[in-house]
Amino acid sequence: MALTPVLTKRFGTNAPWRIDNYERLDGYAGLRKALTMQPDELIALVKESNLRGRGGAGFPTGMKWQFIPQAKPGEPSKPHYVVINADEGEPGTCRDLPLMMNDPHSMIEGVIIACYAVRAAHAFVYIRGEAVHAIRRVTQAVNEAYAHGYLGDNVLGSGLRFDITVHGGAGAYICGEETALLDSLEGKRGQPRLKPPFPATNGLYDAPTVVNNVGTLASVPYIVLGGAAWHKKMGPDGSPGTSIYSLSGRVKNPGQYEAPMGTTLRELLEMAGGMSRGKDLKFWTPGGSSTPLFTAEHLDVPLDFDSVGKAGSMNGTSAVMIFDTDDSVVQAVLKWTQFYEHESCGKCTPCREGNYWTAQILERIWHGEGVLADLDTLLDVSDNIFGRSFCALGDGATSCIMSSIKYFRDEYLALIAKNPNSGLDAGSSQAP
Ligand code: NAI
Ligand code: SF4
Repeated sequence: MALTPVLTKRFGTNAPWRIDNYERLDGYAGLRKALTMQPDELIALVKESNLRGRGGAGFPTGMKWQFIPQAKPGEPSKPHYVVINADEGEPGTCRDLPLMMNDPHSMIEGVIIACYAVRAAHAFVYIRGEAVHAIRRVTQAVNEAYAHGYLGDNVLGSGLRFDITVHGGAGAYICGEETALLDSLEGKRGQPRLKPPFPATNGLYDAPTVVNNVGTLASVPYIVLGGAAWHKKMGPDGSPGTSIYSLSGRVKNPGQYEAPMGTTLRELLEMAGGMSRGKDLKFWTPGGSSTPLFTAEHLDVPLDFDSVGKAGSMNGTSAVMIFDTDDSVVQAVLKWTQFYEHESCGKCTPCREGNYWTAQILERIWHGEGVLADLDTLLDVSDNIFGRSFCALGDGATSCIMSSIKYFRDEYLALIAKNPNSGLDAGSSQAP
């Protein structure tokens, strides 16, 4: 399958992060065109394109922009904001950072267009704290955009002022949850807020706020230039456009692969040179560690929001982590669960306590100290986290546990059987 460079089309060209190079390759042409349109026309265009949020949830972007309440004629306009969620932290996910490092201006251009469309004057880019290199790169690009008249007063002669503030987080996964991010941006401890109200009405400083992911906004200039019909030609009707799939694990050439939404793992593996150790595929994540695992039987599932959901998982962040038959699913699930235990913000009991217990149980199973009842306990605790937690972190933490037991129960039982007091015969992989 041929690669479809849209978001990555400038990757590999001469220093594409520098504004002069960006401008040479159509940079800021989308903004120039957008400023000739009415804000509502832009929202209608993005709605028509059916662009869906690339942060993981796949919420329709145009609809999100339309939710921002606008002043009626004669009423004073109240402040509202655009916030860019660049706190990419999902295990396995690596597409916003390469995008910001290689082509920061495409995101910045999308941000300015979004500000114009929703009538916001100020945007905040919240970048994961550990990614100091990306914070520096985006800050430099924002400074260049001010110097070239794309930010600041009278942008491109429009009479409008737009500002972007770059903000580094402090390295907490939960600050990628949009309302925790907003609290963190306001200088508070980053913990999720109750939704609704959604940020669209009560966001940053309680003002209407669009929160969009890096890849979502970087797609916008292309849609403004190419049109909704062009965008809809790529990928399936329900999830059009391209996605940057990040491939990691047992694959010959790990990295970022841009392809139309709906590309299958079989096709992605072909692009990435196949499995790295000559072993067979055993399990994989379609969208990061928060999405239920898939196995070899899912090689031909189109990786888009609707198809992955129908097959029993979630498209999430398109972070494809690949494991072969020599890898232990229990060990992988233990590592992910320890991550969630560590990153739980502690606000709600099911996630704070539940992830502590699932990590303990998985640890003893992995070390050959588990007992037969552990599998039921793991499922029971997961069931009490799922749907009972305050935010998506709790639900996501249970996905790998529940799906791994569904597909690889025997592997758990074989490890449990290593414990002479487990209630299972040594070497047995069958539950009594
Ligand atoms: P969500 O489905 O609750 O919301 C998605 C977006 O739509 C949000 O911006 C929300 O404000 C908006 N929205 C939903 N209903 C709305 C309504 N009625 N009115 C106005 N706005 C509305 O999903 P959530 O919890 O924001 O995100 C979960 C996803 O995040 C997961 O699917 C996961 O894949 C992804 N994720 C991404 C990570 C990353 O590193 N990029 C890390 C962890 C999770
Ligand atoms: Fe915090 Fe976890 Fe509850 Fe989310 S689910 S609010 S991360 S304790």
